[in-house]
Order: sequence, then structure tokens, then C-alpha cells
Amino acid sequence: MTSVSQATHPSRNIALLGGDGIGPELMEAIRPLLTEAFPNWSLHDAAIGWSRWCSDGNPVPQETWEVLDRCDAALFAAITSKPAADAERELAPELRGKGVRYVSPILQLRKRLDLYANVRPVQDFVVVRENTEGLYAHDFTMAYLPDGDEGSADSFDLWKRIKDDTTVAATVTTEEASMNPTAKALGDVAVALRVTTTFGWERLLRTGAKLALERAENRARTTDSHSPAARNPNAAASDVEAPGVVTPRVTIADKPNVLRDSGDVIARAVERVTAEFPQVTFEFANADIVAMHMVTEPERFDVIVAENLIGDILSDLGAGLMGGMGLPASANYGDSFAIFEPVHGSAPDIAGQGIANPTALLLSAAMCADYVGDDGTPLRDAVHAAMASNPTRDLGGTATTVEFVDTVRSQLNRLE
Ligand code: NAI
Ligand code: MG
Repeated sequence: MTSVSQATHPSRNIALLGGDGIGPELMEAIRPLLTEAFPNWSLHDAAIGWSRWCSDGNPVPQETWEVLDRCDAALFAAITSKPAADAERELAPELRGKGVRYVSPILQLRKRLDLYANVRPVQDFVVVRENTEGLYAHDFTMAYLPDGDEGSADSFDLWKRIKDDTTVAATVTTEEASMNPTAKALGDVAVALRVTTTFGWERLLRTGAKLALERAENRARTTDSHSPAARNPNAAASDVEAPGVVTPRVTIADKPNVLRDSGDVIARAVERVTAEFPQVTFEFANADIVAMHMVTEPERFDVIVAENLIGDILSDLGAGLMGGMGLPASANYGDSFAIFEPVHGSAPDIAGQGIANPTALLLSAAMCADYVGDDGTPLRDAVHAAMASNPTRDLGGTATTVEFVDTVRSQLNRLE
């Protein structure tokens, strides 16, 4: 078994958050492999997910925050989130009707631990999604008038500015609203605010630039057949504009010609960060065109950065390009902690059958290993070899979860 040596690698504390659905069965299946591959890791289990919401009214219990506090990083499998009505109905009887609000545990982790960069490798390129602001920061229904309504005063100025919009005006010019100006006629209008800060973008861009530099170093060091440089070995350094990225490149996927003010804030952040990374090429691209090129010409990308909603969509498109939800891994990085997780959810349709693909969780564990200073490459290589030799059902094979992990284990032994 190829494993990091305990003598040369200091001990690491890694939290394991199994969660719901296929989460716990995947975590149990890979646990023995983690123990063998990374003997310097101490694994700490912590509860998270739907059952804790039902029993405690919060899917992230206090003891889980304490475990995370003591760990160097966390591996998180998947949780279940359900619509508001189900959330209320499934609460313990004593908690119902008390206004307890469900907040997705992964959003809680990202916000509270300030894990602002969501990094998702997609074959030849990587998507870095902003995790804490953007279009997911504020979403609310506008009150027509602020009178006596908590929270609506803030939205009032904004409301005054948008109510002349033809569509909005048509929606609110109901008989009721015109007869009774204090009526809240606006159940049919909601506004989502896109929060864009130079602070948020500068740190996101720095993460993207460092990642691009690391990837360029790896390309120079290896002849990895997956890398664009290796696929296009004749590309001269001067061919940087040609498909087949040679120099580190960060593509900012946004809509600056439509979302002009927030686009301007991003442009200012880019200007500043460009000066810090003279070796990195920064380019703006419209997010919709980026989506098209991800499908038709993926080799033109190196690192793509995007705000929360756009990044969410582009990274799931990336998951589709990779061949399905069982494969893509991701990392949520902050400045002092990181959580690694598959992109997929709890897959209730196949939970309990022992057939879920553990690839995404294993590749997340490999990213975790790199982050804590161990080497995730042997595990990553073994997973890719196992995918070719004994795939799970979602990839057209027959391997169960445990059989796939066994194949990964024998590949690791062969690599030794
Ligand atoms: P999902 O990712 O759980 O499942 C989508 C499809 O992909 C299903 O057909 C499923 O069987 C398949 N799939 C997912 N992971 C797989 C694996 N490892 N091996 C083989 N097939 C796999 O997304 P869905 O169905 O939209 O959501 C189910 C639940 O998961 C919901 O409660 C949702 O809120 C939650 N969710 C949680 C996430 C997280 O924990 N970060 C992310 C996405 C959804
Ligand atoms: Mg998503």
C-alpha cells in the first residue's frame, strides 16, 4: 500500500461528516482506505444533516463546531435538504410552530468558517466559485410600503428605484394597491440583490491566480496526459492564445455588459490583483459564452472564477462534462480551514443499496491530502485506474461501492 510515512508526515486531525442518504455509507466504505493510505491522519466523526435538524432544530449541532475547531480540515459526504413545509412537519413535535428556521448545513459551514473559495476541478480546467456573496447573499420579497414591517425599510429606497420598471409596475398596479397604498400587494414581486465587493473579489482572484500558478508548475513537472500542455506538446510558449493553455490563466466569467455596476467593482479588483501576479493572464469573458466554450472548447480554459450563482451553474455544467454526479470533487477553502466534499448530494433514490460511486468522495479526500501537506496523487491515480478497470453502475459497470473501493486499494498496492 502506497501510504505517506508517519515518520515524515506530521499527524493530522481530519473531521469526517457523513451526513445523510448515501453520505454515511460512502464514508464507511472509504474509511479503511483512508486509514491505510494516510496513517498519520486521526479521523474524528461529527454529526450533521437532516436527522439533527429533526431532533434539535439545527442540522449542525454545537459538538460538530467543536470537532471542526480541533481539526486541520474536514471531509464532508452529503446532506439532505427538504422544502420548508417538510422541514416544519418533520421537526420534533416540541419544536414545531416555534419559528425555527432551517439553514442548509453546508451554507452554515461556508459562512461561519468563511470558506470563500469553492474549487471544483473539471478534467482540464478548474472552476472557482465565490461562496459567501454574489446573488446568493440576499433574496427577499419586497414590501410595498415600509409601514410597520420589520426589514422593509431597507428595501424601500431600492423599491422606489425599481418600481417604474415596466414589468414591476404592471405587477403592482393592481386595484388593491391603487386603492390602498399601504397594502402589501407585492407577494408577486421579489428582489435578489447581487452583493459584489472588491474585498470578496480580490481574495477570490488571488486564490484563482495561485491555483493557476500551481497548475502551471505541475504541468511543467509532469507529462500528465490529462494536461492541455501535454496534449499539445508542440505549443510554443508564444502560442498562449491558442487553445491548449500554456501560461497560467484566470478567466473571469461574468456579465459585465449587463450587470455594469457590479462588473465595474470586479474590474477594479482585477486591476489590483493583476499587479500582484505578473505571470498570470487575467481575461474577462461573458459567462454564457464560457458555458458554451466549456462544452465545445474546454481546452481554452485553465482557471475560471465566478460569483456564487454563476459559479454554481458553471461547476454543475462541469460535472455533466465529466460524466455524471458520481465523479466531481470539490474544496471549500478559507484562509485557515478547508472542507472537501463531493459535488453530489445525498441521492435518496439509491441510498441504502450499496451501489453509490465513491469516486467523488475519494477525489475529495485526495484534495484534502494535498491541502494538509500529504500527497493526494497516488490516491487520485488509483481512483482513475479503478474507474477504467472496475466501474460502478452509474458509469456502466457492475462494481458495488465496496468492490470499487477494493479495486482502488489493489491499484494503490500496485503503485507501490
Ligand atoms: P443528488 O446529487 O443527490 O442526485 C442526483 C442524481 O445523481 C441522482 O440520480 C443520484 O442517484 C445520482 N448520484 C448522485 N451521487 C451519486 C453517486 N455518488 N453515485 C451514483 N449516482 C449518484 O442531487 P438531488 O437528487 O438533486 O438531491 C438529493 C438531495 O441531496 C436533496 O435533499 C438535496 O438538497 C441534497 N443535496 C445536497 C448536496 C450537498 O450535500 N452538498 C448537494 C446537492 C444536493
Ligand atoms: Mg450546485
